[in-house]
Amino acid sequence: MQNKLRTLEVEAKKAIGEAGSLSKLEKERVHYLGRRGELTLILRGMKDLSIEERPVVGKLANQIRAHLEACIQERLAQLKGNLKAERLKKERLDVTLPGTRPQVGSKHPLTLVLDEIKELFAGLGYTVVEGPEIESDYYNFEALNLPKIHPARDMQDTFYITKDILLRTHTSPVQVRTMEARAPNIPVRIICPGKVYRRDADSTHSPMFHQVEGLVIDKGITLANLKGVLTLFAREIFGSDVKVRFRPSYFPFTEPSAEVDISCVICGGEGCRVCSQTGWLEILGSGLVHPRVLAMSGYDPEVVSGFAFGMGVERIAMLKYGIDDIRLFFDNDVRFLHQFAIG
Ligand code: PHE
Repeated sequence: MQNKLRTLEVEAKKAIGEAGSLSKLEKERVHYLGRRGELTLILRGMKDLSIEERPVVGKLANQIRAHLEACIQERLAQLKGNLKAERLKKERLDVTLPGTRPQVGSKHPLTLVLDEIKELFAGLGYTVVEGPEIESDYYNFEALNLPKIHPARDMQDTFYITKDILLRTHTSPVQVRTMEARAPNIPVRIICPGKVYRRDADSTHSPMFHQVEGLVIDKGITLANLKGVLTLFAREIFGSDVKVRFRPSYFPFTEPSAEVDISCVICGGEGCRVCSQTGWLEILGSGLVHPRVLAMSGYDPEVVSGFAFGMGVERIAMLKYGIDDIRLFFDNDVRFLHQFAIG
């Protein structure tokens, strides 16, 4: 019987060692050590043994069971280890593969230009003021010396909501609102960026576009101050070698008025298609605030004077970046917009 047990031990150990999967191992366990397994079967013969032999065989059987159980545990750990290794191998990640890059947005070219303009004027001590896009006839026209019958109103035809309420045609009403709020305090040094609306639509005009208005009021402001600030502005935005020209013009709210031109950024002043062979590009309107406008808003034109200017942000951006169609700004085609991504 002891021999039988030893043979069983050898045989079982081999089977356990060879069990190739968790389920096979379990089968072997049941086969040898289960309630009706081989070991139990042999031990049934115990009853035929002598009293002396029984404890000896019993002890041996227990040892064998303990040994085989240990073998099973060991094999189990081995198989589980193999499974884990296999899974890790299958799930292996190649971190050197190029990933999918997240799409990162960029600032709109108009925002870029506007930021640059704001920064420039902030450095000169100007503050940013905003006003409503839906404006009254009074602030958009009347208070800017454009009475109802004034023919210059035709230059800025817009969208009317009622007879007296309209979408503002320029940022100049913010000038008036600010003067009304601050008079008679000086100095006033503001820029007013914002959307404006006109009944125009082609490759250089959009029914909605952006302007930046500037206004300075103080004692002793002259055309020299206006020239100095706007020349600096043009050189900062378009490069220090641009030439700046002040051309007499007309705006009802300024007197005298001047249109500001820069030497053509495309041909450098030689004359080309962009500057209509003139060598010059108009970038903004300006002038000394009309005494009547000052007075209507509460300032005494005998005591203070001021200058104002207004520019189209789209136009500045088109000239700066060489964009030939204003509609590109509003199509929001990412192929266009991404060209302005910085970094
Ligand atoms: N408001 C004028 C326009 O939109 C521009 C301007 C502003 C001119 C201030 C002179 C002074 O055309």
